[in-house]
Parts: sequence; C-alpha cells; structure tokens
Amino acid sequence: MRILLTGKNGQLGWELHRLLEQGFEVIAIGRDDVDFRNPDELHDMLRRLPSFSIIVNTAAYTKVDQAEKEQHEAELVNIEAPAVLACEADRRGIPMIHFSTDYVFDGKKWTKPYTEKDKPNPLSIYGKSKLGGELRVRDLCEKHLIFRVSGLYGTRRRNFLTTMLNYAKASERPLVVDDQIVSPNWTPLIAEVIEHVIYRIFSSFPVHWGVYHLTGNGAATWYEFAKLTLEKASSISNKQIIQPVSVSSEEFHTTAKRPAYSVMNSDKFRNEFGYSLPDWKTQLLHCINTIGKDEL
Ligand SMILES: NC(=O)c1ccc[n+]([C@@H]2O[C@H](COP(=O)([O-])OP(=O)(O)OC[C@H]3O[C@@H](n4cnc5c(N)ncnc54)[C@H](OP(=O)(O)O)[C@@H]3O)[C@@H](O)[C@H]2O)c1
Repeated sequence: MRILLTGKNGQLGWELHRLLEQGFEVIAIGRDDVDFRNPDELHDMLRRLPSFSIIVNTAAYTKVDQAEKEQHEAELVNIEAPAVLACEADRRGIPMIHFSTDYVFDGKKWTKPYTEKDKPNPLSIYGKSKLGGELRVRDLCEKHLIFRVSGLYGTRRRNFLTTMLNYAKASERPLVVDDQIVSPNWTPLIAEVIEHVIYRIFSSFPVHWGVYHLTGNGAATWYEFAKLTLEKASSISNKQIIQPVSVSSEEFHTTAKRPAYSVMNSDKFRNEFGYSLPDWKTQLLHCINTIGKDEL
C-alpha cells in the first residue's frame, strides 16, 4: 500500500512520515516539491505520481496572525490546494485524510466541549480558511476523514512548548495568556492515532467518513500549560524554576482573534476507531520526559 503524504517537514507531517515509512511505502512531499499556493502546479504533479491508495494532507498555512494580512495565500493553501487533493482522491476512488482546527469555533460554548454537531463560527482568517478547506474536502471527496486537532506541540520546530523551553534556557519569564482554554496535544501521539486509522482503512474495516474531533481529555489555559512545562523542565534539568507571568488576551495583543474556549469532545472518534488520547497533562509529561537533561 502506498501513501501520499503532504507537508513532510511540518510538525505533524514529519512525525507521520517517520512512523508510516516503517510499515508502508510513502510518497512524502514538501514545499520544495510543490508550492500549494499554485493549485495548477499541484494538480499537474498529482497526475505524474505513481499510484497510491490514500492521501494524507498535513500541509497547511498555519501562521494564525500573519494570515490576517495574507488572506489570499492562506486561502490558496488551506482551501484551494485541499480541494485539488480531494478531487484527485475522488477521481482515483481512494480516501483522503485531512486536518482542521479547533479555531473553526468562536469559543462561546464556554466550558462544554464542542462536538461535531456544533456550528463552526471562526473568528480569524486562518479559522475561516480551515473551515473553507473542510467544506471543499467534504464536498469533493466521498471517502474523506477530517480530523480537527488542537494545540499541537512537540520538540521540533517552533511551537508553544519549544518557545517556553527557550524562555527557560534564557532564564526569562514568558508572558502567557490565562484566559484561553485549550486542549493541547503532543504531535507524535496524534501521528500514532492516524497510523492506527490508516491500518483500519487498509484492513477494510468499515469506516464512517466525515468530520471527527481528535484531542486528549481535559483542558488548560496556555498559562497552566506553560507553568507545568517550566516546572517539569526545571525538575529534570535541576535549574531554577522559571514562572510564567499570567496575562489576559487583552493585555497580550495578537493580530488574529482566538476563541476563549476551544475544547473539543472526541467521543465520536473513540466510538468509531476505538482509540483515545491521554489527557493533556499525561501527554505533556510524557513529551518532556523524552527530552535529554542537557537539552533543557
Ligand atoms: N499547530 C497547531 O497547533 C495546530 C492546531 C490545530 C490544527 N492544526 C492543523 O494540523 C495540521 C498540521 O499542522 P502542523 O502543526 O503540522 O503545521 P506546520 O508545522 O505549520 O506544517 C505545515 C506544513 O505545510 C507546509 N506548507 C505551508 N505552506 C505551504 C506551501 N505554500 N506549499 C507547500 N507546503 C506548504 C509547511 O512547509 P514548510 O515546512 O516549508 O514550512 C509545513 O511543512 C494543519 O492542517 C493545521 O492547520 C494545527
């Protein structure tokens, strides 16, 4: 079975590539192979590829604040390119796995996790573009699985966790918002779950195509997540604890508006695929334990 994986150098794409190539042949493509801002180029490239049995699209325009000024680019990468991939998957009669975000919601549900039945209402250009991509993939490819994930972090590339660890190394206290409630997820665990889903598809298990929320249990503010990160890093490295400084979203101004509450309920995923992710604290502690003492 051959898999077409996009976004091979991204957080999730890189983890998935590492995992999937152990059991499958993977055609992994990145920005150097094709620029998703050019859907025609993507279309032509897809036609030149050898046969494959599934498309896994992790490529995305993910610069949430910059998207407010680069709407067209965000829409090309997050709406038009997924539409091209979805058409190609449908033409070949194969499934497509696509990723979306908790930022399709406006946060007004406050303290009751969002289910797939809740109506999206994105607050940002990024959120709107990701919702636009969901709709196109859903409409154009019959065998689609769209996984809404949230707060991805890992030890590679720039993300919330690596940013906090850099503050710790510099012995500087980060300002962190304490009024946005999220459910952060360690990218290698999301990759493992997706590998499980692919095995099921390839084993001809019946799959209900559609949109699924995919996050661990529990929720935290970014401040709580930062505090635990810095405490755990300090206990491993034996360096002094750096305490984050709690600020409000109003004080910590960002160009794009983010939902104050974007926790999602993953029951539908668990019932369909028989798999659930650990809660955010367990994921975070597991992740930090993989980092060597000297790197903290
Ligand atoms: N990160 C999060 O916290 C988060 C939260 C919710 C949902 N999601 C969703 O989860 C999925 C995976 O996110 P991620 O964190 O792995 O994202 P990421 O680390 O930003 O990776 C995205 C990948 O897309 C590639 N890409 C961007 N623009 C491109 C273009 N014009 N042409 C070709 N490739 C392009 C990037 O290439 P380069 O490597 O060259 O930059 C990168 O490899 C995305 O659908 C994202 O929207 C992420």
